[in-house]
Amino acid sequence: MKAVILVGGEGTRLRPLTCTTPKPMLPLVNIPFIEYIIRLLKEHDICDIILSVGYISDIFESCFNDGGHLGVKLTYVVEDKLLGTCGAVKNVESLLGGETFIVFNGDILTNLNIGQLLEYHRAKKAAVTITLTPVEDPTIYGLVPLDNSGRVLEFLEKPSWDEVTTDLINAGTYVIEPEVLRYVPGGENYSFERGLFPALLENRERVFGFHSSAYWLDIGTPEKYLLAHKDILEGKVSLEFIAQEIMSADKQAKSRVWVGKRAKISPEGTIFGPTVIGENAVIESHATIFSHTTIGNNCRISSGTVLEGCVLLDGCRIGEGSVVKNSILGRGLKLGKKVHVEEMVVLGDNMKVGDENHLKRGMKVWPDTEIEKGKIRF
Ligand code: GTP
Repeated sequence: MKAVILVGGEGTRLRPLTCTTPKPMLPLVNIPFIEYIIRLLKEHDICDIILSVGYISDIFESCFNDGGHLGVKLTYVVEDKLLGTCGAVKNVESLLGGETFIVFNGDILTNLNIGQLLEYHRAKKAAVTITLTPVEDPTIYGLVPLDNSGRVLEFLEKPSWDEVTTDLINAGTYVIEPEVLRYVPGGENYSFERGLFPALLENRERVFGFHSSAYWLDIGTPEKYLLAHKDILEGKVSLEFIAQEIMSADKQAKSRVWVGKRAKISPEGTIFGPTVIGENAVIESHATIFSHTTIGNNCRISSGTVLEGCVLLDGCRIGEGSVVKNSILGRGLKLGKKVHVEEMVVLGDNMKVGDENHLKRGMKVWPDTEIEKGKIRF
């Protein structure tokens, strides 16, 4: 069986991080996000994978080549203009070999049991099976009510509470019979949600919903991107990342502090787990790192710094006495001394922030920006 992973989108809600890196290539606990999806497919013996790329397309092949090191075969198909989620699949139709295939949105963190999904699809003799996941507030999503046999009744966009009959939403993973692609116009921007799925219902095709209770998170906003890190560190979704768990001071209990190769941590630094520190990172004396922090490879955390619940991408340098909380810092970013970054701030790659700035309240700053000493205060 072949899989298509959709990775061509611009990831606008995750700007400025996605100004320089497509969303599926952003690191999650220091590994490109899409690698988790590739590994999940491989675990279920799906090794022939097509990546439908568009936005900053070259970066995928430079990172994964033919996929051999992950035990899979990767084929890249580039869209010159974005074709939408379903148009992107139509675009790779000739590579699918006329067989049942699976489609993954490239921004979903899940440990979905693909084997069960495929069994369900076959048992129902479905034309399309849509994986569904329950949500707490169904009024902000598109809902997918089912009949008793699991057949999709309708697609209900952002209903009011009195219209809500289910809490199941489209989880962005589909099993598809190749014949249904005849409903999709070639070379046009076309989506699954607004295009193909309603067309299939109109034509009384067998569209089924697979109710999955697996972990599921769309990492597409800064809040969700931070939450994905937190959930991985807490073990809510079990994913392997490359780092060694160090022993706690009493040499007994596991500390849940994972450290990459060649990282140097001052004995006078204080670190609370769960936390991940990347390869070659340096943590200087009297730095305090509170839980739910991910520090990228080659980062340098100076003396007197406080980090909490944040994600630092590779190569960040944090100046003495700075505080970073609940925020995301892009690659190669340099913070001066006594800088405060708090309350869901997102800073783009290679920024330079001068001493004594205070960045707060959801500020987003684009890559390569330089902020002079003491310019911003709240
Ligand atoms: P936002 O701009 O923040 O909505 O993000 P997005 O458009 O990149 O992602 P969205 O959640 O809308 O799409 C789900 C998945 O489909 C993501 O992995 C995208 O990369 C991918 N995707 C979206 N549009 C296209 C497209 O036109 N072509 C291809 N190949 N992939 C797409």
